[in-house]
Amino acid sequence: MTKFFENFRKPRGWGGRLLIASMNIGHGGISRWGLSHLAIKPSDHILDIGCGGGKNVARMLKRAPEGKVCGLDYSEVCVEKTKRLNRRAVIEGRAEIRLGSVSENPWRDNSFDVVTAFETVYFWPDFAKDLREVGRVLKPGGIFFICNEMNKPEEGEAPYQYWIKKLDLKTYTASDFRKYLAEAGFVEVNIVSEGKGRTCVSARVKK
Ligand SMILES: C[S@@+](CC[C@H](N)C(=O)[O-])C[C@H]1O[C@@H](n2cnc3c(N)ncnc32)[C@H](O)[C@@H]1O
Repeated sequence: MTKFFENFRKPRGWGGRLLIASMNIGHGGISRWGLSHLAIKPSDHILDIGCGGGKNVARMLKRAPEGKVCGLDYSEVCVEKTKRLNRRAVIEGRAEIRLGSVSENPWRDNSFDVVTAFETVYFWPDFAKDLREVGRVLKPGGIFFICNEMNKPEEGEAPYQYWIKKLDLKTYTASDFRKYLAEAGFVEVNIVSEGKGRTCVSARVKK
Protein backbone atom coordinates (compact mmCIF):
# COMPACT_ATOMS: atom_id res chain seq x y z
CA MET A 1 0.00 0.00 0.00
CA THR A 2 1.44 3.42 -0.87
CA LYS A 3 1.93 5.93 1.90
CA PHE A 4 -1.04 8.09 0.86
CA PHE A 5 -3.48 5.14 0.93
CA GLU A 6 -2.32 4.25 4.45
CA ASN A 7 -4.16 7.42 5.49
CA PHE A 8 -7.50 5.61 5.07
CA ARG A 9 -6.41 3.24 7.88
CA LYS A 10 -4.69 5.83 10.06
CA PRO A 11 -4.61 9.44 8.84
CA ARG A 12 -1.26 11.16 9.45
CA GLY A 13 0.39 14.47 8.48
CA TRP A 14 -0.79 16.71 5.65
CA GLY A 15 -2.04 13.76 3.52
CA GLY A 16 -4.16 12.59 6.45
CA ARG A 17 -5.55 16.08 7.04
CA LEU A 18 -6.50 16.36 3.36
CA LEU A 19 -8.18 12.95 3.40
CA ILE A 20 -10.29 13.51 6.53
CA ALA A 21 -11.44 16.91 5.22
CA SER A 22 -12.56 15.17 2.02
CA MET A 23 -14.19 12.29 3.98
CA ASN A 24 -16.24 14.84 5.93
CA ILE A 25 -17.76 15.81 2.56
CA GLY A 26 -17.56 12.52 0.65
CA HIS A 27 -19.11 10.39 3.41
CA GLY A 28 -22.10 12.78 3.75
CA GLY A 29 -24.47 10.53 1.78
CA ILE A 30 -23.72 7.27 3.59
CA SER A 31 -23.64 8.99 7.00
CA ARG A 32 -27.00 10.70 6.56
CA TRP A 33 -28.50 7.45 5.23
CA GLY A 34 -27.10 5.55 8.22
CA LEU A 35 -28.29 8.11 10.74
CA SER A 36 -31.80 7.92 9.29
CA HIS A 37 -31.85 4.33 10.65
CA LEU A 38 -30.62 5.21 14.14
CA ALA A 39 -32.99 6.37 16.88
CA ILE A 40 -31.19 8.93 19.04
CA LYS A 41 -32.89 10.43 22.10
CA PRO A 42 -32.27 14.11 22.93
CA SER A 43 -30.49 13.24 26.20
CA ASP A 44 -28.39 10.34 24.87
CA HIS A 45 -24.70 9.97 25.67
CA ILE A 46 -23.05 8.80 22.45
CA LEU A 47 -19.57 7.63 21.47
CA ASP A 48 -18.42 7.72 17.83
CA ILE A 49 -15.49 5.30 17.35
CA GLY A 50 -13.13 6.08 14.46
CA CYS A 51 -14.52 9.62 14.42
CA GLY A 52 -12.23 10.70 11.54
CA GLY A 53 -12.85 14.36 10.70
CA GLY A 54 -15.65 14.71 13.27
CA LYS A 55 -18.61 15.41 11.00
CA ASN A 56 -20.71 12.62 12.51
CA VAL A 57 -19.98 13.95 16.00
CA ALA A 58 -21.39 17.30 14.76
CA ARG A 59 -24.45 15.63 13.22
CA MET A 60 -25.21 13.66 16.39
CA LEU A 61 -24.75 16.71 18.64
CA LYS A 62 -27.72 18.22 16.76
CA ARG A 63 -29.77 15.07 17.41
CA ALA A 64 -28.89 14.94 21.12
CA PRO A 65 -29.17 18.59 22.25
CA GLU A 66 -29.48 17.64 25.94
CA GLY A 67 -26.90 14.85 25.78
CA LYS A 68 -23.20 14.49 25.06
CA VAL A 69 -21.26 13.16 22.07
CA CYS A 70 -17.75 11.77 22.47
CA GLY A 71 -15.29 10.80 19.77
CA LEU A 72 -12.47 8.25 19.79
CA ASP A 73 -9.77 7.82 17.18
CA TYR A 74 -6.20 6.48 17.27
CA SER A 75 -5.06 9.13 14.76
CA GLU A 76 -3.76 12.39 16.21
CA VAL A 77 -4.83 14.41 13.16
CA CYS A 78 -8.39 13.03 13.49
CA VAL A 79 -8.62 13.97 17.16
CA GLU A 80 -7.30 17.46 16.39
CA LYS A 81 -9.74 17.97 13.45
CA THR A 82 -12.78 16.59 15.34
CA LYS A 83 -12.04 18.91 18.28
CA ARG A 84 -11.66 21.88 15.93
CA LEU A 85 -14.88 21.14 14.02
CA ASN A 86 -16.84 20.76 17.30
CA ARG A 87 -14.98 23.44 19.25
CA ARG A 88 -18.02 25.11 20.78
CA ALA A 89 -19.47 21.82 22.03
CA VAL A 90 -16.05 20.81 23.44
CA ILE A 91 -15.83 24.12 25.37
CA GLU A 92 -19.39 23.69 26.65
CA GLY A 93 -18.58 20.12 27.80
CA ARG A 94 -21.11 18.61 25.34
CA ALA A 95 -18.38 16.91 23.32
CA GLU A 96 -15.23 15.14 24.42
CA ILE A 97 -12.70 13.77 21.95
CA ARG A 98 -9.96 11.34 22.98
CA LEU A 99 -6.99 9.70 21.33
CA GLY A 100 -7.06 5.91 21.64
CA SER A 101 -7.71 2.56 20.07
CA VAL A 102 -11.00 0.72 19.81
CA SER A 103 -9.21 -2.22 21.44
CA GLU A 104 -8.42 -0.26 24.61
CA ASN A 105 -11.31 2.11 24.94
CA PRO A 106 -10.41 4.84 27.46
CA TRP A 107 -13.96 5.29 28.81
CA ARG A 108 -15.33 3.55 31.90
CA ASP A 109 -17.81 0.65 31.89
CA ASN A 110 -21.47 1.60 31.26
CA SER A 111 -20.76 5.12 29.93
CA PHE A 112 -22.90 5.35 26.78
CA ASP A 113 -26.47 4.88 25.52
CA VAL A 114 -25.25 4.59 21.92
CA VAL A 115 -21.89 3.73 20.32
CA THR A 116 -21.46 4.33 16.58
CA ALA A 117 -18.88 3.17 14.02
CA PHE A 118 -19.07 4.76 10.56
CA GLU A 119 -16.82 3.30 7.84
CA THR A 120 -14.29 2.07 10.39
CA VAL A 121 -14.82 -1.59 11.35
CA TYR A 122 -12.88 -2.57 8.19
CA PHE A 123 -9.73 -1.59 10.08
CA TRP A 124 -10.44 -2.98 13.56
CA PRO A 125 -7.67 -5.38 14.50
CA ASP A 126 -9.68 -8.04 16.36
CA PHE A 127 -13.42 -7.70 15.67
CA ALA A 128 -14.52 -10.27 18.29
CA LYS A 129 -12.48 -8.67 21.08
CA ASP A 130 -13.18 -5.10 19.95
CA LEU A 131 -16.95 -5.78 20.05
CA ARG A 132 -16.65 -6.90 23.67
CA GLU A 133 -14.86 -3.61 24.40
CA VAL A 134 -17.79 -1.74 22.77
CA GLY A 135 -20.19 -3.75 24.96
CA ARG A 136 -18.19 -2.86 28.07
CA VAL A 137 -18.60 0.93 27.59
CA LEU A 138 -22.31 0.66 26.68
CA LYS A 139 -24.89 0.99 29.45
CA PRO A 140 -27.11 -2.10 29.91
CA GLY A 141 -29.49 -2.16 26.93
CA GLY A 142 -27.36 0.38 25.00
CA ILE A 143 -27.17 0.30 21.21
CA PHE A 144 -24.17 -0.37 18.97
CA PHE A 145 -24.54 0.95 15.42
CA ILE A 146 -22.30 0.16 12.43
CA CYS A 147 -22.60 1.92 9.07
CA ASN A 148 -20.53 0.66 6.11
CA GLU A 149 -20.42 1.25 2.41
CA MET A 150 -18.42 -1.89 1.66
CA ASN A 151 -19.75 -5.25 2.77
CA LYS A 152 -19.53 -8.85 1.68
CA PRO A 153 -22.60 -10.42 0.01
CA GLU A 154 -23.62 -13.88 1.31
CA GLU A 155 -22.71 -15.26 -2.12
CA GLY A 156 -20.45 -14.09 -4.93
CA GLU A 157 -17.84 -11.39 -5.01
CA ALA A 158 -18.23 -8.13 -3.12
CA PRO A 159 -18.54 -4.92 -5.14
CA TYR A 160 -15.68 -2.42 -4.64
CA GLN A 161 -13.05 -5.22 -4.95
CA TYR A 162 -10.48 -2.68 -6.13
CA TRP A 163 -10.78 -0.67 -2.90
CA ILE A 164 -11.11 -3.70 -0.63
CA LYS A 165 -7.81 -5.05 -1.98
CA LYS A 166 -6.06 -1.70 -2.28
CA LEU A 167 -6.87 -0.69 1.30
CA ASP A 168 -6.69 -4.24 2.72
CA LEU A 169 -10.19 -3.89 4.21
CA LYS A 170 -11.88 -6.54 6.34
CA THR A 171 -15.47 -6.91 5.12
CA TYR A 172 -18.34 -8.88 6.63
CA THR A 173 -21.53 -10.58 5.48
CA ALA A 174 -24.82 -10.05 7.34
CA SER A 175 -24.35 -13.55 8.85
CA ASP A 176 -20.83 -12.63 9.99
CA PHE A 177 -22.20 -9.54 11.76
CA ARG A 178 -24.93 -11.61 13.45
CA LYS A 179 -22.44 -14.26 14.59
CA TYR A 180 -19.82 -11.83 15.95
CA LEU A 181 -22.44 -9.69 17.69
CA ALA A 182 -24.19 -12.68 19.30
CA GLU A 183 -20.84 -14.01 20.56
CA ALA A 184 -20.00 -10.62 22.06
CA GLY A 185 -23.29 -10.48 24.00
CA PHE A 186 -25.49 -8.40 21.68
CA VAL A 187 -29.16 -9.16 20.96
CA GLU A 188 -31.91 -7.72 18.72
CA VAL A 189 -29.57 -7.44 15.73
CA ASN A 190 -31.17 -5.45 12.92
CA ILE A 191 -29.51 -5.11 9.51
CA VAL A 192 -30.61 -2.81 6.68
CA SER A 193 -28.92 -2.93 3.27
CA GLU A 194 -29.42 -0.85 0.17
CA GLY A 195 -27.93 -0.49 -3.31
CA LYS A 196 -24.39 -1.63 -4.01
CA GLY A 197 -23.50 -2.56 -0.45
CA ARG A 198 -24.62 0.17 1.95
CA THR A 199 -25.39 -1.56 5.21
CA CYS A 200 -26.20 -0.46 8.71
CA VAL A 201 -26.33 -2.80 11.66
CA SER A 202 -27.77 -2.07 15.07
CA ALA A 203 -27.74 -4.32 18.11
CA ARG A 204 -28.57 -4.02 21.80
CA VAL A 205 -26.07 -5.11 24.44
CA LYS A 206 -27.39 -7.61 26.97
CA LYS A 207 -25.81 -7.36 30.43
C1 LIG B 1 -12.33 5.61 6.67
S1 LIG B 1 -12.13 6.55 8.13
C2 LIG B 1 -13.82 6.96 8.57
C3 LIG B 1 -13.91 8.23 9.38
C4 LIG B 1 -15.32 8.66 9.79
N1 LIG B 1 -15.93 7.72 10.69
C5 LIG B 1 -16.18 8.88 8.58
O1 LIG B 1 -17.17 8.15 8.38
O2 LIG B 1 -15.86 9.79 7.80
C6 LIG B 1 -11.70 5.35 9.36
C7 LIG B 1 -11.38 5.95 10.69
O3 LIG B 1 -11.24 4.91 11.66
C8 LIG B 1 -10.11 5.19 12.47
N2 LIG B 1 -9.61 3.92 13.02
C9 LIG B 1 -9.20 2.84 12.31
N3 LIG B 1 -8.81 1.85 13.14
C10 LIG B 1 -8.97 2.32 14.41
C11 LIG B 1 -8.70 1.76 15.70
N4 LIG B 1 -8.18 0.54 15.82
N5 LIG B 1 -8.97 2.51 16.79
C12 LIG B 1 -9.47 3.77 16.65
N6 LIG B 1 -9.74 4.36 15.45
C13 LIG B 1 -9.48 3.64 14.33
C14 LIG B 1 -9.12 5.87 11.51
O4 LIG B 1 -8.14 6.61 12.17
C15 LIG B 1 -10.08 6.75 10.70
O5 LIG B 1 -10.30 7.99 11.30
